[in-house]
Amino acid sequence: MTWLNSKRGITALCFSIGLSLYGCGGGASDSDLGGASVAKASVAALASNASSPAMPQIPVAAPPMGWSSWNSLEENVSYNTIKAEADGLAALNANIASGPKYQYVNIDEGWWTSGQRDTNGNFIIDTTQWPGGMQAMAQYIHSKGLKAGIYIDAGPVGCGTRTNGTHFVGSDYAHYTHDFLQFAQWGYDFVKVDFCGGSNASYDPQNAYTAVAAAVQNAYVHTGQQLALNICDWGTIGNNSAYPDYQQGPWAWAPGLAVSWRTTGDIYGPNSGVPNFGAVTGNLAGNYHPEAQHTGYYNDPDMMIAGMGMSAVHDQAHVSLWALSGAPLILGNDLAKPVSAATIGLITNPEVIAIDQDALGVQGLLVGQSGAQQVWSRLLAGSGQRAVVLFNNTAADAAMTVTWNQLGLLPSSASVRDVLAQKDLGSYAGSYTAPVVPAGGVVMLRIGGTDTPATSYQPSSLSGGAVYASCASCAGGRKVTSLGSVVFSGVASANAGGFVQIAYVNSGTQTLKAKLNVNGGLATTLAFPPSGSNGNVGTITAYALLQAGQNTVTLSSVDSTTAAPDISSIATVAGPMALQPFHATYEAEAANNTLSGGAVVANCQQCSGGKDVGYIGNGGTLVFNGVAAPATANYTVTIGYVNGDGGPRSAQVSFNGAAPVTVSFPSTGGWSSEGTVQVAGVLQSGNNTLTISNPSGWAPDIDGIAMTAQSLHAKYEAEAANNTLSGGAVVANCQPCSGSKDVGYIGNGGTLTFNGIATSSSGSYAVTIAYANGDPGPRSAQVSFNGAAPASVSFPPTGGWSSVGTVQVTGVFQNGNNTLTISNPSGWAPDIDDIQ
Ligand code: GLA
Repeated sequence: MTWLNSKRGITALCFSIGLSLYGCGGGASDSDLGGASVAKASVAALASNASSPAMPQIPVAAPPMGWSSWNSLEENVSYNTIKAEADGLAALNANIASGPKYQYVNIDEGWWTSGQRDTNGNFIIDTTQWPGGMQAMAQYIHSKGLKAGIYIDAGPVGCGTRTNGTHFVGSDYAHYTHDFLQFAQWGYDFVKVDFCGGSNASYDPQNAYTAVAAAVQNAYVHTGQQLALNICDWGTIGNNSAYPDYQQGPWAWAPGLAVSWRTTGDIYGPNSGVPNFGAVTGNLAGNYHPEAQHTGYYNDPDMMIAGMGMSAVHDQAHVSLWALSGAPLILGNDLAKPVSAATIGLITNPEVIAIDQDALGVQGLLVGQSGAQQVWSRLLAGSGQRAVVLFNNTAADAAMTVTWNQLGLLPSSASVRDVLAQKDLGSYAGSYTAPVVPAGGVVMLRIGGTDTPATSYQPSSLSGGAVYASCASCAGGRKVTSLGSVVFSGVASANAGGFVQIAYVNSGTQTLKAKLNVNGGLATTLAFPPSGSNGNVGTITAYALLQAGQNTVTLSSVDSTTAAPDISSIATVAGPMALQPFHATYEAEAANNTLSGGAVVANCQQCSGGKDVGYIGNGGTLVFNGVAAPATANYTVTIGYVNGDGGPRSAQVSFNGAAPVTVSFPSTGGWSSEGTVQVAGVLQSGNNTLTISNPSGWAPDIDGIAMTAQSLHAKYEAEAANNTLSGGAVVANCQPCSGSKDVGYIGNGGTLTFNGIATSSSGSYAVTIAYANGDPGPRSAQVSFNGAAPASVSFPPTGGWSSVGTVQVTGVFQNGNNTLTISNPSGWAPDIDDIQ
């Protein structure tokens, strides 16, 4: 029997005598798994006051699903072209095996070709283009079991240009009431309201859309026809200091007003040619406002460009990331033409759609990032449910890992399903590593695990007329009615950001509203759908900008005319843990830096310190002075930057004036969101400079830099003769391992010590350990830097004893020679290949 077979033999024996999976061979108990020490500490602190009665999660309105004309037809919309697309959408829907289907057929700009009104203000419709008028079009769409959408601008001028070279025409304050009533009377179900004319006429976005929303509501009152309102102001930041939305985007004021609001510029347009994946990632980044997307109100990163010429891998990434975000799923490809089998398979995958349409309606969060590799996760309805997208936006296929800690799950075993392949992958404790995430692509997963415990809170104080009333189904037997305001104080959070579940009663038939405010910050309007006519309590869940520590959460009525629900209690509940914004160690705007050429300090709301440096490049240069290093070594520097272009910008980065490296800074999807890249170089002991420039183009705006853990300069083989092996640890053959050997039988008394790890400086080092773990679950090991207190590290399965994976562990090395010891006193560690 070979070495590898004997390993399998041990595992099989353990199964046969009925030991649990993780009690076997690897010896990792639950508490050792997942590298989740931070989460475990916080859970322990909260667990003492954990009490959250099981209450039904009330489904919120799902994001709109449908098709829009702009990407494929531009302004060439007519009864015949839209009829063919409606037929195509109905046929496409037949491929969706179960669950929600595409609903809306949305006519974008180009329907009102005359741009004229009659003397009563009614739209004059070209009856060659629309033989039965716009109503007949809506009726045809409805006859296919679909819903109809229409389009107008909030200002007098439209966005696009007609074939005769003149601009389209929009609505305006004087016509809102008439126009939205007309759309409802025609039978439309959805309206997209653009802002080219609004901007042109210097309308304030919030002011204009508040008037539009009132006109939509008025139309509903008069016709019973509800128009779903989509705001399309491209995420305009209000710039009129006299208006309430000054320096805010629609995500700050549109929840409660509209179903969805665009957050970025167009993903595609006339003359765009083959769609550009950079537009996908740019819009994804600009769409990230998780505190605004909740309870049926959605950030809208624009209609999709899948099936329009990008690679299958990019299409998969695009649709998966839209679904993970809970974005409106509005198709843009031409459904009147044959659609490829690959595209049909992707856009009708019921499991992808189910994630998009999830009943909690929260936005997916970025929970991990390393260079251009991102881990995204979305909290889903149900217990312990998460969607995950591993997004590898690099040029090479790569393995990628998500840890249960990142998802707010206990490190115990969780089921993992490949959503795109619609295939179960088994159960994993602590983490899951996808062996191959394609270059530029994704692996999308649905995870079913165990939530970290919730903590519930009763009201601390009432005001504004709010009073208690009895409530049999509520925690504590009472609820707050007649809002007013109810304050929950001392709401503890281990991290910045978190999910708040609100228990409420709405025994009517209409959705009610209330405002949520955390620590006196910006309030967002939440929707509370009916929770049942029997007076029972239900819950909705929202992502809130909690701070680490104690928080004050307030729920209050929107205004004196908007009915509010009764509030019972709130709870902080498990969910994915958002990566926190970049924090600079050295700010670009610091007074001791040197700015030359056109480079200038500018305001940047989302940047650390509230400022950045812009106009770097084309002669402009930023030099960070006084960058301190404890010793001369290779350091990795994280650069926080903003690049609102559609594609990457590049810059030359030089450490201490040495030959610069060219660094690519991907689009951040707008000038109001930030990204990070990492660059390595040598810093000398003492003070250093870091120079950012671009002689021949614009560099991004720079927020600042932060130092990250250093890497080793060399690779150290486990089988090297100068290492110390004790207990049962032995060198073994391992075909795919570097040097074709590794060290096995570490753990249960066996120990491997790497000797002579040379560093040229003391400091924090990130060590990558290559290992093999052929068990179906993780193994764990104690890893000690220079004999210091060990860290418990989880090594996810590698899929066999002849497959190698890597994990990273950070610790402190001294200048000179160092040791790293790997052991496990109470179970098997993995086989170790090398460290670097
Ligand atoms: C704007 C919108 C697009 C589309 C066009 C029509 O650019 O953002 O989605 O509606 O107008 O001209």
